[in-house]
Amino acid sequence: MKNILVVGAGAMGVQIAVLCALRGLHVTLAELDDDTRETARPRAAAIIGKHVDKGRATRPEASAALERLEFIARLDEVTDIDLAIEAVTEDREVKRRVLAELEPALPADALLASNSSSFVPSSLATDLDDRSRFLNIHFFNPVLSMRCVEIIAAPETSPGAVHRATRFVESLDKLPVIVKKEIPGFVANRILNAVRDEAIRLLEGGYADVESIDLACRHALGYPMGPFELMDLTGIDIGYLTKKARFEETGDPADAPSRTVTALVEQGTLGRKTGQGFYHYDTDSRRGAPAL
Ligand SMILES: NC(=O)c1ccc[n+]([C@@H]2O[C@H](COP(=O)([O-])OP(=O)(O)OC[C@H]3O[C@@H](n4cnc5c(N)ncnc54)[C@H](O)[C@@H]3O)[C@@H](O)[C@H]2O)c1
Repeated sequence: MKNILVVGAGAMGVQIAVLCALRGLHVTLAELDDDTRETARPRAAAIIGKHVDKGRATRPEASAALERLEFIARLDEVTDIDLAIEAVTEDREVKRRVLAELEPALPADALLASNSSSFVPSSLATDLDDRSRFLNIHFFNPVLSMRCVEIIAAPETSPGAVHRATRFVESLDKLPVIVKKEIPGFVANRILNAVRDEAIRLLEGGYADVESIDLACRHALGYPMGPFELMDLTGIDIGYLTKKARFEETGDPADAPSRTVTALVEQGTLGRKTGQGFYHYDTDSRRGAPAL
């Protein structure tokens, strides 16, 4: 793999592009939105700058990586791509459209992947002519520091494509986790969600309060952060929307957002970004007392 295309220069697309560029790959980043595309290079530079500050790359390595990044607006501008990674908005229809548009722009032997956090590849590949080269390569946020990358094959994905994706992930010094059979949300996020659901059940049942549950997770289970602290950090609305989408798909009441999370979203108390969620936050985003 030498030439990588990343589609979508949002939070994840830029980080994936930076990771690949730091590993010596040439990366083209395609972004439809003019404002987002214009800020993409400075955002990439800031991510690389922090990497240098942490002593993980030298300044010359950082500038060389930045030079390997190219930004385009339209998918028909791409040529000579070995691997395309779709990292656009988490909306199945948008992803299907982007993948169908992308396919004819790629050489026949290029690998095609989605970075979706929840949609299984067969549900995204519906409009592709060649589904054997398509799978999910799911990076975690923040991309430079999280070493795990999940690889999810659809029933139609060829073993060769899984092998190439695995080699690619290893070449980035990441640890591939192969998901052997499709399941929405895959492995890590499913486990994370199960822990969150249980934490909310314990809270709603009156068995323990927010702080005690977080404390148990930190100091009995060794988690770096409790589930309520984490929900506040990532945004309570994000978890709510993910569960709502899952519920709409399955109709299983166990997949529906909890009444506590629904109430917080309706009140607009979404975690750190709004100054209150399960905890209060001061203007410097420092955690204060529990809010529930
Ligand atoms: N944010 C996370 O923590 C995280 C973690 C792992 C995986 N993911 C997955 O990564 C993907 C992207 O997430 P994100 O958080 O970066 O989203 P984001 O909303 O920050 O970025 C998506 C970008 O895609 C662009 N886009 C939409 N349609 C496009 C098109 N047709 N062509 C080019 N660009 C287009 C949007 O303008 C936007 O800039 C999603 O599938 C998400 O599930 C996100």
